[in-house]
Amino acid sequence: MSEQGLAKTLVSKEEIAAIVSRLGREITECYKDSDKELIVIGLLRGSFIFMADLVREIKHPMVTDFMTISSYGDGTVSSGDVKVVMDLDESITGRDVLLVEDIIDTGNTFSKVVRMLEGRGPASLRICTFLNKPSRREVEVDIDFCGMDIPDEFVCGYGLDYAQKFRNVPYVGIYEGPVD
Ligand code: IMP
Ligand code: MG
Repeated sequence: MSEQGLAKTLVSKEEIAAIVSRLGREITECYKDSDKELIVIGLLRGSFIFMADLVREIKHPMVTDFMTISSYGDGTVSSGDVKVVMDLDESITGRDVLLVEDIIDTGNTFSKVVRMLEGRGPASLRICTFLNKPSRREVEVDIDFCGMDIPDEFVCGYGLDYAQKFRNVPYVGIYEGPVD
């Protein structure tokens, strides 16, 4: 294990910066003809570091908000249940919403969040995820902006955790420690 506790680097700091900058350009381009303010919503806690970097690469007026959904406990296997732990402050009705996620794995959590937010009547709802594990998908998710597809490995760093640890690691690494 490296000094920061992750066995192997999957996405370096430099690669992360390039990904975030490209996503910022894609998102800016997508909304360039809109004179509406964007509402960028981060799902806590995993998206907080990615979201902080991403919003600075988007050249469009925006407000930001956060929502906490619980899905996983402290392990690496999804419970399949989602619960709104902390809801948005802002109303999204009639607004252009960009939902920001750290990683889409089975899609179970995310598809439920999307369905719930669509029920609130946004003008548009688009999805940006930093990482994507397509081989693990159980529920289809339409991703509008995707940072990187990764293999079926449990990864940590750059906001992603194992049992709340490693979020501060500035790169994405493969977690190969004990799971319980
Ligand atoms: P899904 O419902 O299976 O798509 O789960 C998505 C959530 O599971 C993400 O928001 C993460 O919090 C967590 N997750 C899935 N894969 C990983 C991983 O490799 N590392 C850390 N968290 C993960
Ligand atoms: Mg998470």
